[in-house]
Amino acid sequence: MRILVTGGTGMLGSSFKNIDTTHDLILVGSRDFNLLNKHLVKKMFNCINPDAVIHLAAKVGGVKGNTDYVSDFFTDNIMINTNVLETAQNANVKKVLSLLSTCVYPEEPLYPLTEEQIHNGKPHPSNFGYAYAKRMLDVHSRTIRKQHNLNYITAVPNNIYGQNDNFDLENGHVIPSLIRKIYEAKKTGVPPVFWGSGKPLREFTYSHDIARALMFLLENYHGETPINIGSTAEYAISEVVELIVEILDYRGDIIWDTSMPEGQFKKPSSNNKFLKINPSFVYTNINNGLKETCSWFVKNYPNVRGVKIK
Ligand SMILES: NC(=O)c1ccc[n+]([C@@H]2O[C@H](COP(=O)([O-])OP(=O)(O)OC[C@H]3O[C@@H](n4cnc5c(N)ncnc54)[C@H](OP(=O)(O)O)[C@@H]3O)[C@@H](O)[C@H]2O)c1
Repeated sequence: MRILVTGGTGMLGSSFKNIDTTHDLILVGSRDFNLLNKHLVKKMFNCINPDAVIHLAAKVGGVKGNTDYVSDFFTDNIMINTNVLETAQNANVKKVLSLLSTCVYPEEPLYPLTEEQIHNGKPHPSNFGYAYAKRMLDVHSRTIRKQHNLNYITAVPNNIYGQNDNFDLENGHVIPSLIRKIYEAKKTGVPPVFWGSGKPLREFTYSHDIARALMFLLENYHGETPINIGSTAEYAISEVVELIVEILDYRGDIIWDTSMPEGQFKKPSSNNKFLKINPSFVYTNINNGLKETCSWFVKNYPNVRGVKIK
């Protein structure tokens, strides 16, 4: 199969380079084809003529970006997703696997997060626009399945980390921000400051695991409903900090600013549905994933996204 991977230059997309597969993977980024432009999306499908699509491209950001630019996060993601799905459908591409995120679940769900809850109530205000656009990706995929009988599916990862992430402190995610702060503290001697107590628990999945899970779903999952694919091992933020401190050999102080908000105590998800169809799937141990990510970061610093634009 010739598989088009949109978002192929991003953190998750670039991990597809390490996938062991006989398929022909074509990774594209925004410089190849800007997916906001419908004509370029058509051109991309004409040029590549894919048998299947793994659709990862999205406008992605942290809480600040999602809040300050809530409308951009909604419209850009709606446009990208509509252009990709509609063009794939018109080109009669038989399978499209699109990515949602556990942060699109409702603000007050029943824990653990299970797939049937995804549209039950409004999402958390911190990513309102992004979450509704992602939910519409699920709706759009289901409508294409019904009307056009094409096998369009969606998967739901939790927090992903890995090489090629965005290390911007205001607009990045938890792990890249922890890595950068600890690394720069070691360089400058100024202790890193982290928000909250470090006690809240979160789930993290290495990008290479998500790429492997997606390849499995593309070949083996044909269901209408989304499927959670992240590791459900929970770690306190302070535990992740300790692991990174050890990996980067940082020996200075750490400041926990307990006057700052730290979010909910835990947000567990269920991957039972995924493990039922893929019982032998093994997630990378977080220490090993962090070692790979930190090693890549140190090797490339400061030429990494969010620190210095390449
Ligand atoms: N990171 C997480 O923790 C997380 C968690 C759950 C779900 N996800 C989902 O996983 C997917 C990948 O996320 P990521 O963390 O790998 O994000 P990322 O590193 O920011 O990568 C985003 C990708 O989308 C591409 N893109 C953005 N706007 C585009 C446009 N207008 N036209 C064409 N391509 C465009 C980017 O291309 P350029 O780099 O060339 O601009 C890049 O390849 C997204 O769908 C995201 O919602 C991520």
